[in-house]
Amino acid sequence: MARPTVAQLKAWIRDDYDAAALGWERHMAPYFRVPAERLVTDLAPQEGDRCLDLACGTGLIARAFAARVGADLVAASDISRVQVRQARSALERGGLSRIDVAVMDAESLDYPDGRFDRIGCGFGVNHFPRPLVALREVHRVLAPGGRAGFTVWGSHSPALRVRFDERLLELVPAIADVADSPLEIEFGRITSRYGNPRTLAGVMTEAGLVDVERRSHRFTVDHVDAPRYVDAMLSRAERDLREARLGDRERAEVRGALVAELSSFPREAFVMRRAYHVLIGARPIA
Ligand SMILES: C[S@@+](CC[C@H](N)C(=O)[O-])C[C@H]1O[C@@H](n2cnc3c(N)ncnc32)[C@H](O)[C@@H]1O
Repeated sequence: MARPTVAQLKAWIRDDYDAAALGWERHMAPYFRVPAERLVTDLAPQEGDRCLDLACGTGLIARAFAARVGADLVAASDISRVQVRQARSALERGGLSRIDVAVMDAESLDYPDGRFDRIGCGFGVNHFPRPLVALREVHRVLAPGGRAGFTVWGSHSPALRVRFDERLLELVPAIADVADSPLEIEFGRITSRYGNPRTLAGVMTEAGLVDVERRSHRFTVDHVDAPRYVDAMLSRAERDLREARLGDRERAEVRGALVAELSSFPREAFVMRRAYHVLIGARPIA
């Protein structure tokens, strides 16, 4: 297969998040909640501001916006239908069903010009095949003087994760075919593009955003023990497991073997310090 087209890559990413979405609230939200709150604090929305959670997943940033400006002024969108469905149920459970959640591609937003005063995008921009196209859309839907913020992870590959990946590959060799596919390789290439936040700052400036600033933060996520860590990582690998056609019994065996393998790690290995960067830029007033 030649290098995937933008449409193929987007469809692949959408399917990947459709598969991961069911476990997102339970297993992935602990990773994303603290940076979501931080991004909204750094964006400092004021009373009356219209806010957008872009590439919203299950809407953690939308919830943080709503706590400040009220649900009526908040919108959220994501390319994954299943993430959007999960976001709607989570928001409903939290009494926030008035947040408007839609399926939308960040590179082609269905919002009018100048609609939002604040846009928060948590760990999404590194999934857009053409980030400049998406950031021009952000610039278009921002009101003059409005601010947009993007979070990206700092580098991180703890021994625990390396061991998980190696052992999963030994247990489910078919995953290697998925991992070596041109789409997975291209996905790896685009998601690692903003390891250096200066690259993202440059694209933000090219899209017309000004006063671009970076803030670096750290937080700790505690996975508690091997079973919880394995369940979280397997929920993110859901698509690969489906493609490898694992039945329920095989899945349970794989899970048991992974838990046994990682149980030799000390308690502190499950407590992870994560670094991330928040980049904020504004649409010029004139
Ligand atoms: C790492 S998740 C982060 C989710 C959420 N922002 C959070 O902080 O929990 C990345 C999200 O980007 C979404 N995404 C990927 N490509 C997208 C695109 N082109 N347009 C909109 N959303 C996209 C995925 O579906 C996924 O929900």
